[in-house]
This record gives sequence, C-alpha cells and structure tokens, in this order.
Amino acid sequence: MIVEPYSPEDREGVLRLYLQFNEDRIAFGAGDARYKYIEGETPWANTLNDRNCKNFVAKEKGIVLGFITTRILEYNPFEKIKGLGEIDLIVVERSLRRRGIGTILFKRAAKHIESQNASHILLNVSTKNLPAIKFWTKMGFQAISKSCFEHHGGEREEIVYMMGKSEV
Ligand SMILES: CC(C)(COP(=O)(O)OP(=O)(O)OC[C@H]1O[C@@H](n2cnc3c(N)ncnc32)[C@H](O)[C@@H]1OP(=O)(O)O)[C@@H](O)C(=O)NCCC(=O)NCCS
Repeated sequence: MIVEPYSPEDREGVLRLYLQFNEDRIAFGAGDARYKYIEGETPWANTLNDRNCKNFVAKEKGIVLGFITTRILEYNPFEKIKGLGEIDLIVVERSLRRRGIGTILFKRAAKHIESQNASHILLNVSTKNLPAIKFWTKMGFQAISKSCFEHHGGEREEIVYMMGKSEV
C-alpha cells in the first residue's frame, strides 16, 4: 500500500468512500451529511479542488483504500497555539478498518500540517460516531468543546471538537 497526495485520478475512489461514510452516519443515527445535491455531486466534493486543502490517499493497485483531507486554518482563536491545521475528514474502506490504515493516513497528514508551521490540529466529529472518537483519542486528541446544530431537514446533530498535536 502507498500513501500519496490526492490527484484528480483518485476522485472517483474518494467519492465512493465518502458515500460509505455517509451510510455509516445514517447507520449510527447522525443523518445524511450530503445536504442537497445541486448538480449530481455533493458540495463536499469541492474540498478535493480547494487549493487551501491538502489531501492524501492510501492506494493499492490503483484502488483507493482510504483518504484524509486537511486544511490550514487562516483564523486561529487560540492565543497559545502557533498555527492551526484542520482535519476535515478521514475514511478507510469499511472492510479494511482496524488494520492501521487510518493511523498511517493520520501520520502523513500530521506531518504535512507540521510542515506548514501549524503545531495543533482541530477537528470535529459527531458525538454518535463512537469508533471515530475512539480513533482520535488513540491518536492523542482530546475533546475541547461540544456544539449542536440543526440540519435543513430539522434533525439536530451534536458534534465534539477535538484538538491534537501535529508532532506525532
Ligand atoms: C475512523 C477510521 C478512519 C479509523 O480507521 P482505521 O484504519 O480503522 O484505524 P486504525 O486501524 O489505524 O485504528 C487505530 C486505533 O484506533 C482505535 N480504533 C479505531 N477504530 C475503532 C473502533 N471501531 N472501535 C474502537 N477503537 C477503534 C483503536 O485503538 C485502534 O487501534 P487497535 O486496532 O490496535 O486497537 C475508520 O473507522 C473509518 O473510516 N470510519 C468511518 C469514517 C469516519 O467516521 N471518519 C471520521 C470522521 S472525522
């Protein structure tokens, strides 16, 4: 397996895993994250073209087995923190979870964020997504606050913000 920066040829594989993640969300009761499709694709797909985002894929024989999307935040409200990166989303192929792929992807993303002079990483995750919370805790992240918002359909979602270090 190799981990390399995302390129447009990975788009289909990444979107396939994004749909898997969305199925997971529905299964654990956090609802459909796709919002309204405008022209067939989820607006989240814009993350893949956003020049402020740096994304990585885990691949074997050309097949995308996992991905992670990152961004350096321009606004950093934490005075004691040098620079702040964000992990937007990480997804590993469902049948290949618990084999260390998520850890490898995270370490690659953290290395990139550290190289951009950001000492810390912020992310948020649904409080119903217990496997992901366990994963991020294992990666050294700690919950710093919780928030609740309402989807267009009226469902409420509670999220927990977690903070970790880019130096791993
Ligand atoms: C979260 C996710 C990316 C983890 O990927 P992964 O490849 O399974 O993670 P790893 O195998 O590297 O796990 C590392 C450690 O995290 C913890 N962990 C990961 N998944 C866990 C789970 N389902 N339950 C409990 N602990 C878990 C364990 O401590 C694990 O180490 P161990 O297997 O030696 O016990 C994967 O579960 C996933 O794709 N989930 C769906 C998408 C998602 O929810 N993304 C997060 C939103 S930000």
